[in-house]
Amino acid sequence: MNEVGLAVVGCGTIGRIRAELARDYPGVKWLGLCDIRKDAVEKLADDCNADFYTTDFNELIRRPEVTAVIIATDENAHVEPTLCAIEQGHSLFIEKPLATRAKESQMLIDAIEDAGIDCVMGYTNRFRRRFLAVKERLTTGQIGHVHSVVTRAFMNKMVPIATIQKTNDRANLTPMVVSGTHSLDMSMWLMEGKNPVSVYAKSVENVLTQYGTKDSTFGIFTMDDGTIWSMNISWALPEVWPGSVYGLEIGIVGTEGVIDIEDTHRDLILASNIAQGAGYTSRDYAPPHARHVDFLGSYPAGDIQGGQFWGPMRDETITWFSRLCNNQQTPHATGKDGHRNLMLTMAMDLSAKEGKEIILPEKLSDMF
Ligand SMILES: NC(=O)c1ccc[n+]([C@@H]2O[C@H](COP(=O)([O-])OP(=O)(O)OC[C@H]3O[C@@H](n4cnc5c(N)ncnc54)[C@H](O)[C@@H]3O)[C@@H](O)[C@H]2O)c1
Repeated sequence: MNEVGLAVVGCGTIGRIRAELARDYPGVKWLGLCDIRKDAVEKLADDCNADFYTTDFNELIRRPEVTAVIIATDENAHVEPTLCAIEQGHSLFIEKPLATRAKESQMLIDAIEDAGIDCVMGYTNRFRRRFLAVKERLTTGQIGHVHSVVTRAFMNKMVPIATIQKTNDRANLTPMVVSGTHSLDMSMWLMEGKNPVSVYAKSVENVLTQYGTKDSTFGIFTMDDGTIWSMNISWALPEVWPGSVYGLEIGIVGTEGVIDIEDTHRDLILASNIAQGAGYTSRDYAPPHARHVDFLGSYPAGDIQGGQFWGPMRDETITWFSRLCNNQQTPHATGKDGHRNLMLTMAMDLSAKEGKEIILPEKLSDMF
């Protein structure tokens, strides 16, 4: 069993969940933390009894104890700490998106591959039981040859408002790049072996325009075997919508059968005169309206019970530790998947901007 010295860069919502899980995993022998917000890193270091903490990621990643790094910084702040970790030859777990610019993403994936680094990415839905069950049925051919796929993601606008407010660099913080990437990754994983050759998409701007982003993007991909795939997201649902973060539906039609996935959480509803928690908060953001109806389980990462975090993000994080310690095969998205996902989400935005179908080049970053 390999021993892990773990560096967590970014001690916000997600860095906290992963660091607390690391502290409980016997194979993680050393835990170091970094955040540019001194109060955030100090608090988390105290809460999980970290071995080291700093506000400078260079200092953390270059420590001799470190063997693996989690990058859980803001969307626009993944590139520099990732490059530092690659330089040191550490295993990597990077939150989506890999980067927010095409050339930077290509540069990172080239560096990861040149250095032979084992790199996975946080596409947490892959660890929801229902999707693992579907994946197995598709892999073993239970619905024949898949030819038509439709994906619909609906999101509460709490996430985009909280995310966009953290930065003025908003040009690429679109519904597809930030959040649609989760359902795009899932759909591509379920269609493994098919490669998109073209995409035509349209976007609409409305209530989220004041925050510097779009409301919705809908598109149609054509795959190299002729499969058509409709990929749609709106992240502009009102704060009082009972789904606190993500509701997903995917329909997959094959020559011998169909799989219809309902992941909208309408099977577990709480309604109460007592206002429920915010549903989603991040740093300074708190939703302006009280929420009295809640689809329980609609925070895709999981839920807290008894002070502990349960659900797909727990499985995803612990399974990564098993991958590091025992070289276990795991269903994580790889860095390469993450690069492809960013290129495809950006291709939808490009098609919507140019108002035409985009023929996808073999090297996807050549589009930009
Ligand atoms: N896997 C999933 O399901 C999932 C869910 C939500 C968010 N995410 C992704 O995780 C990442 C973090 O999201 P979050 O919700 O935790 O955000 P957050 O704002 O709560 O945390 C980000 C933290 O990074 C810190 N930071 C920024 N730049 C830094 C730097 N250069 N060095 C050190 N620290 C730095 C910030 O101060 C902040 O504390 C984002 O990329 C987001 O898209 C993934």
